Amino acid sequence: MTNKPTPNDKFSFGLWTIGYNGIDTFGKPTREALDVVHVVEKLAEIGAYGLSFHDDDLFAFGSTDAERQTQIDRLTKALADTGLIVPMVTTNLFTAPVFKDGGFTSNDRNVRRFAIRKVLRQLELGVELGAKTFVMWGGREGAEYDSAKNVRVALERYREAVNFLGDYVLSQGWDIRFAIEPKPNEPRGDILLPTVGHALAFIGSLEHPELVGLNPEVGHEQMAGLNFAAGIAQALYHDKLFHIDLNGQRGIKYDQDLVFAHGDLHNAFALVDLLENGGPNGGPAYEGPRHFDYKPSRTEDESGVWDSAKANMRNYLLLKERAASFRADPEVQNALAAAKVFELEQPTLSQGETVESLKADRSAWEDFNTDAYFNGKGFGFVRLQQLATEHLLGAS
Ligand code: GCO
Ligand code: MN
Ligand code: MN
Repeated sequence: MTNKPTPNDKFSFGLWTIGYNGIDTFGKPTREALDVVHVVEKLAEIGAYGLSFHDDDLFAFGSTDAERQTQIDRLTKALADTGLIVPMVTTNLFTAPVFKDGGFTSNDRNVRRFAIRKVLRQLELGVELGAKTFVMWGGREGAEYDSAKNVRVALERYREAVNFLGDYVLSQGWDIRFAIEPKPNEPRGDILLPTVGHALAFIGSLEHPELVGLNPEVGHEQMAGLNFAAGIAQALYHDKLFHIDLNGQRGIKYDQDLVFAHGDLHNAFALVDLLENGGPNGGPAYEGPRHFDYKPSRTEDESGVWDSAKANMRNYLLLKERAASFRADPEVQNALAAAKVFELEQPTLSQGETVESLKADRSAWEDFNTDAYFNGKGFGFVRLQQLATEHLLGAS
């Protein structure tokens, strides 16, 4: 039996996830939004350790300073009463009409200046609450029409904003980093930083790239037909996995935000294995929050909301247990070795090897038998994947 979630598991939830009232493009809300104090109490009760939020989730857009402060005080008290923490905060630059053409990259300069002010305010609040990550999801940073957005210049404006915010964090000596969340489309027809790869390239162009990493979301990469676990491995390779949004998605369609593992289960297994075991020979690869960014379906009432919240954590822990049994199985170790998975760790060239010494190695060319790879030398990858499947299904 899998253990119950505890704060050591570092499970966190967005206030907008649990708080989602069921509204969508075609339908009205199907339930009441939940109050933040109630959310904090329930999250602590079910074993989560953290809550994240956009400014507008906690205090409505356009709130007076006093209204805003009241909500901050209510949250702060609930955190103190329960021990829950705020590991991450983010800004809403997408709901209010003013952001209809984006925030940092709106064609309208006044909107861009207002967007930076809104982010500064939320950044200061995040630091006050002890958040270590500031997520930037540029959902409205994009366009529907190629004629309407100069993408090269828009990226320059994005860069200007992130550089400016990074300078501010450095000048204050704050212990907080930025995490960019890619998404291919929705709500914009096309979003500026559509995938992990695009965002990595953008980060490399910044003045302080060390301050900025990624917050990849399962469903977002899968909406683009990409392999999420493989994308996370690439983010880890570049030391850029600062945060993660876990949820479920079934193929290339609208952003479903299902419960984690209610989408591509095989890929969820590979992901948990990677995060927890770091690959065939390694230890944990990621120490940050296991953050769920999902939407309790609008078919559910409040009991369904909490069932779905628990399902996210339970699925993660079940997959963690299954991944551990996969790694501990001697048959799997043999299959990994037979598939030469460990051999990939060996550098291709010998230490100090030169073009001359490689050319002098007859086994690399003259004596190398390429014919042996026809009708022989199969890698056994299918057997290995079947063993993974057996462990995933609890058959071994
Ligand atoms: C989405 C995004 C958002 C962001 C959130 C935090 O598709 O709606 O995933 O939920 O994660 O805005 O930045
Ligand atoms: Mn999403
Ligand atoms: Mn997200």
